[in-house]
Amino acid sequence: MQPKKASREEVLEKLEEAGGQRIGVATTVQRQTLVPEADIYGVATFYSLLAEPEAGIRVCQGLTCHLGESAALIKELRTAGKKAVFASCLGRCDQAPAFWDPDDEGPIDRAPCSPTSPDLVIDLEAADSLEYEALRSAATRGPDWVLGELESSGLTGRGGAGFPAHIKWQAIRQQAETDRYVVLNADEGEPGTFKDREVILRRPHLVIEGLAIAAQCLEAQNVYAYVRGEFGRVRAALEDALQAARSAGRIDDRVTWHFVDGHGAYICGEETALLEALEGKRGMPRMKPPFPVEKGFRGRPTLIQNVESIACLPGILRRGGDWFRGVGLTEPGTKLYCLSGHVENPGVYEAPMGTTMRQLLAMAGGVSGTLKAFSPGGASSGFLPASSIDIPMDFGSLRAAGSMLGSAGVVVLNDTVDMVHAALTQAVFFEEESCGQCSPCRIGTQILRQALESYGSGDPDALSYVQDVAWGMGEASICGLGQAAALPLTSAMKYFPSEFGLESETGGSTPS
Ligand SMILES: Cc1cc2nc3c(=O)[nH]c(=O)nc-3n(C[C@H](O)[C@H](O)[C@H](O)COP(=O)(O)O)c2cc1C
Ligand code: SF4
Repeated sequence: MQPKKASREEVLEKLEEAGGQRIGVATTVQRQTLVPEADIYGVATFYSLLAEPEAGIRVCQGLTCHLGESAALIKELRTAGKKAVFASCLGRCDQAPAFWDPDDEGPIDRAPCSPTSPDLVIDLEAADSLEYEALRSAATRGPDWVLGELESSGLTGRGGAGFPAHIKWQAIRQQAETDRYVVLNADEGEPGTFKDREVILRRPHLVIEGLAIAAQCLEAQNVYAYVRGEFGRVRAALEDALQAARSAGRIDDRVTWHFVDGHGAYICGEETALLEALEGKRGMPRMKPPFPVEKGFRGRPTLIQNVESIACLPGILRRGGDWFRGVGLTEPGTKLYCLSGHVENPGVYEAPMGTTMRQLLAMAGGVSGTLKAFSPGGASSGFLPASSIDIPMDFGSLRAAGSMLGSAGVVVLNDTVDMVHAALTQAVFFEEESCGQCSPCRIGTQILRQALESYGSGDPDALSYVQDVAWGMGEASICGLGQAAALPLTSAMKYFPSEFGLESETGGSTPS
C-alpha cells in the first residue's frame, strides 16, 4: 500500500505543479498543504528552477563550457532575441558549450563511450537486458549471499565519497526499525560529471535491477529515485524501464517506486540535503551522525547510493564479487571516467579502477593542444599539473596526491588556460551553490571569489589571506561542499605559483 504522504513532502510537488515561484503561488500551496507560507516561500526560493521559472534558456557556466566559449553562446542567443541566463553546470560537459531550454526539451545527445567488452562491469554500449538474472539469484540465495558477494567485491560508492557499500547495507540490516528506504542519488551535479546520465539513458534496466536487489536485500518497502531536474528525459527512461520490467514479470508489487525531480540545486546531491529535499524542505545538509543508515528519510533507515554504484550490483551478483574485485588495477572494479575540456573525444570511458590519466587521454583521442593541468574528479578535486599524468586514477592515490577521485569528472586544460581564470570559474560555482547554512562556507566562498576578482583586476595583495580562509572552510564547514570549495584555488596556487604572483612554478611541466 502506498504510504500516506506528509503534507510537508508535497510542498515541492505543488510548487512544481504551480510552475514555480510567482505572485500568489505560496498562498495557494499553503492552502493545499497547510505548511506556513513563509516556509513555502523559503523552499521555492532555494531551488533555482522554481525560483526563476521564466528565466528562459539556461547556458552552462561550468569550467568545461567556459572553455568552450559559453560567454559567446549566451551573447548569440540574446542577440537573436532569446531569453537566456547563465546556470551552474548542466551535466552536459561533453557538449560544451551546453545549454538547456526547459520549454523545448529535445533528446539528450549521447556521449562517446568505451566499446563493449566482457571485461567491463556496466558496459554502456552493451544491449540492456530484461533478464534480471541477478535479481532472481538474489531472491533464491537470500540476503546473506548478496551481502557476502557485495563485501568480497569491495565496491566503494561511486558518487564521490568512495565509502564501502557493504558496510552501509549491513548497518541497515542491523536496524530494528523495519520501515526502510532505498534512495537512488541521480542528482549528478558535479561540474565535469555526466556518467550517471549516460548509465540511465543507455542501461536503465541495470539501475532498476540494482535498486530492486537493494530493496529486496534490505527489506525496504519504498524506493525513491531522485533525478536531476535538468535531465528531464532521463527520469522518463527510468520510469519506462520499470514499466517494462513489470510487464515482463521481473518486478513485483511488493515495493512502491517513486520518481522525483530535482529542482536545480547542486547541494541536493549531498545525501542528507537530498533527504531534506525529498521531505519537501530547503536542501540543506544535516549534521552527521546520525547517518542515513540509522535515521534517513523520515528518520528511518535509508540506503542512499549513486547510480553507478547501483548499476554495478547486477554484474557483481552475476559474475561474483571476486571477479569484480579482480578487474580493478589498484582498487576494486571498473570506473566510469568522464572526460571533457581540451580533449579530442569528450565522453564517458569505463576502465579498470586505477587507470592513469595518460591512458584515459589516449582512450579519448588525446589532448587538444598541450596538456597543462587537469581536474581529476570535478570542481571539488581542484587541479593537478600535467606532471601528475601517471598517477593511478583511484580514490587512494588521488587522496595521497592532495586531490580526490570524487565522481571522476575529469576536466582537461591545455596550455592556453589562465589558471587564475580557471580557479575563478570554480569559485563562482561554489559561491552560487553554497546552501548558506554555515558561515565558513557561505562567507568563505564569497571571499575567495572576491579575492580572485581583485587579483585579476590588478591588486597584487588580494590573495594574501586566502590560505587562512581556506583552512577555516576546510575545518569548520558542515559538509563536503564547504570543505572542498577552496581546493581549486589553493591547488592552482601550489602548482602554478607564478600565475598568482608567487615564486616560480614547480609542477606544471608536461611529461614526455
Ligand atoms: C556537495 C556534494 C555533492 C554531492 N553530489 C552528489 C551527486 O550529485 N551524486 C551522488 O551520487 N553523490 C553525490 N555526493 C555524495 C553523496 O553525499 C553520497 O556520498 C552518495 O550519494 C552515496 O552514494 P555512493 O556511496 O553510492 O557514492 C555529493 C556530496 C557532496 C558533499
Ligand atoms: S558547507 Fe556550505 S553547502 Fe555545506 S552545509 Fe555549510 S553552507 Fe551549506
